[in-house]
This record gives sequence, C-alpha cells and structure tokens, in this order.
Amino acid sequence: MKKFIVTGGSGFIGSNLVKYLLKKKCFVINIDKLSYSANPYNLKKLAKDKNYKFYKCDINNKDKIIHILKKYKPDGVFNLAAETHVDRSIENPKNFISSNILGVFNLLEALKKYIKTSSKKIKLIHISTDEVYGDIKKGTRSVEESSYIPSSPYSASKASADHLVRAYMRTYKLPAVISNCCNNYGPNQFPEKLIPKLIYNILNNQPLPIYGLGKNSREWIHVFDHCEALLKLFNKGKIGESYNVGSNQNLTNINITKKILFIAKKKSIKIGKNTKIKFVKDRPGHDFRYALNNSKILKTVKWKARISLEEGLSQTFDWYTKNKVFFKSVSKKLYTGRLGLKI
Ligand SMILES: NC(=O)c1ccc[n+]([C@@H]2O[C@H](COP(=O)([O-])OP(=O)(O)OC[C@H]3O[C@@H](n4cnc5c(N)ncnc54)[C@H](O)[C@@H]3O)[C@@H](O)[C@H]2O)c1
Repeated sequence: MKKFIVTGGSGFIGSNLVKYLLKKKCFVINIDKLSYSANPYNLKKLAKDKNYKFYKCDINNKDKIIHILKKYKPDGVFNLAAETHVDRSIENPKNFISSNILGVFNLLEALKKYIKTSSKKIKLIHISTDEVYGDIKKGTRSVEESSYIPSSPYSASKASADHLVRAYMRTYKLPAVISNCCNNYGPNQFPEKLIPKLIYNILNNQPLPIYGLGKNSREWIHVFDHCEALLKLFNKGKIGESYNVGSNQNLTNINITKKILFIAKKKSIKIGKNTKIKFVKDRPGHDFRYALNNSKILKTVKWKARISLEEGLSQTFDWYTKNKVFFKSVSKKLYTGRLGLKI
C-alpha cells in the first residue's frame, strides 16, 4: 500500500485528492493548518477511515513535519498547502509570503533533512499554477520553459516557491516534480472563487458580479481530472521536471457565466429577478488570459483531461445544489471585500 502526505488536504483540491488516493487504496496523511478556506465538511466522512490520518499543522512547523515524515515514511508528498485567493493577496499579501514561500522553504528543508536519514525513496509533487506565466497572448499557450512573469502577489508567491523547489532539486538533488495546473472547478471549492460563487448566487437570487467586461479568458479543468494527473505525475513524472496540467478548454468569464446560467435553466432552477450579470470595477493587475500547452504531459505521462466542461459544470451544479449545507459551513469566513459574497 502506497503512503502519501497531502498538505492542504482540507482545502478544495486537497480534499478531492485525499478522497481520490483513498479510493486508489492508498494510506493518506493530511497536514493542514485549517485556515479560513479549509473546511471540515470536505472530509467529514473520513474521521473513522483507518487509512486516513489528520494533523493540524502549519507547513512552517519544520520539526513537526520531520516527525511526521519519520513516523510514516511516505512514498510521496503532494504539497497543496497555500493561500490561494488573488483578491486576498492584493489586499493582504503577507500571509501569501508566509505560507507560499516560507512554508515551502520549510517543507523543503524538512524533506532535505529527512532524506539524509532515510533509506526509503520519496518524491515531492509540488502543486503550482498557470498564473506564474502571467498574461498569455491570444493564439499562444505557455510551455514549461516559458518565462515566469507573475502579476499578483499570489502568483508571485507561487513563482517564488517553484524557484525554490527547482533550486533544491538541482542543488540538493531533492526528488521533486512541479505541476502547473490551470483553473480548477468541482465539489468542495470555497465559494469566493468564480464558479461556486456564480452557482450560489443563482440559487439565492443574487447578482452575478463579473470583473471588467468579462473578456478575461481562463482554462478550466475539473478537479477530478487534476487529481488523476497528480497521481500519474507521482508514478511517471520525471524527477527534476515541470509539467503543465491543462485541459485546452478556455472560456471567457462572461461565457462561463452564460454557460452556468444556461445549465441552471436546463435543470429548471428558478432564476430570480436579481440574478443578472453585473459588471464591476476590474481587479488591479488582472491578467487577461492564461493558456497552457499540455503536450508534454500528454506525450510523456500519457495523461489527458477526460471531463468536458459541459459535463463537469453540470455535475458541479448538481453537487452544490445537493450540498447546500456546504455553503452554510463556510458562511462566516467569506471574504467580504471587492467581489466578496455575503451569505
Ligand atoms: N484552485 C485552483 O484553480 C488552482 C489551480 C492551480 C493550482 N492551484 C494550487 O493548488 C493548491 C490548492 O489550491 P486550492 O484551490 O485547493 O486552495 P484552498 O484555499 O481551497 O486550500 C488550501 C488549503 O491549504 C491550507 N493551508 C494554507 N496555508 C497552510 C500552511 N501554511 N500550512 C498548512 N496548511 C495550509 C488551508 O488551510 C487550506 O485547507 C494551491 O497550492 C494552489 O496554488 C490551485
């Protein structure tokens, strides 16, 4: 049985990854400091699972991380612990420096120290984002060798972390792989992010706020596809390399909003009179377009996203409709600046 540490396992992607790995008959140790975006609801059914362990711990706590590494001797570590909301990073970048840069530095130091004393092989899969490449011109897509030109404190902190991981791979031969993924959607996502926010507002007769003219384009992947890619990267990703995890499914924010409205109507959800698209002042430094070239992972790891945007959005809509209690479980922690929702 393979053993994995998942950091940030109580957040959106992390909780989906924890469940995915358990389904694949792995033993999973979740290390999460339980910040505002962590949600016990995401993993509430796992408390009694004998293949699941949870540690409330900040990745900055190097000694505790070393202790957990020594105790479990995992085959791999998936690092998803991070501050993730761009708007919050614009308002208060300090937490992003602490978790996304210093946290990764401490995790790398812990791994470096552990590797010296352990004979068992280990591999770090460090989860990064397409945002590190910055704005991508129409007609082009970023490859793994493209320059890092981050625009927000969030993407700058993720870029810094990637550089640190690369430096540790090269200087200390730390066995790691970096994944740069596009925008995820699916169950368990904190509802300050675009898709759950739109679904919540449709279900609650609220306006649908869109930055600028809604022309910004994002590439969307279902979180289940991302989880599958991460396990494949553990099994087949070459140590020392980066991989773009993209779906090739780009859509402007206005078009994704229209798509979700269309899905809601098809499901006979009543659209209230307040539920109208509302253009709001653009985010400062807002990147216009992200787009990944995913040829490398397709060819060398033999992974391809399988869930179409239509199917994935429809299933996601159903999940939030059936799990309304999920929205209630996060209501007090919601960001109330800029596009923040009040629930
Ligand atoms: N959501 C996306 O579209 C997307 C796309 C590409 C990459 N990523 C990356 O994937 C990872 C997970 O993103 P998400 O959307 O699930 O985020 P999320 O905000 O839903 O979850 C992050 C989790 O990390 C935990 N955490 C934060 N700082 C921590 C620390 N210092 N120590 C321990 N735990 C800590 C939080 O408590 C939370 O449970 C992040 O690294 C993010 O940059 C996300």
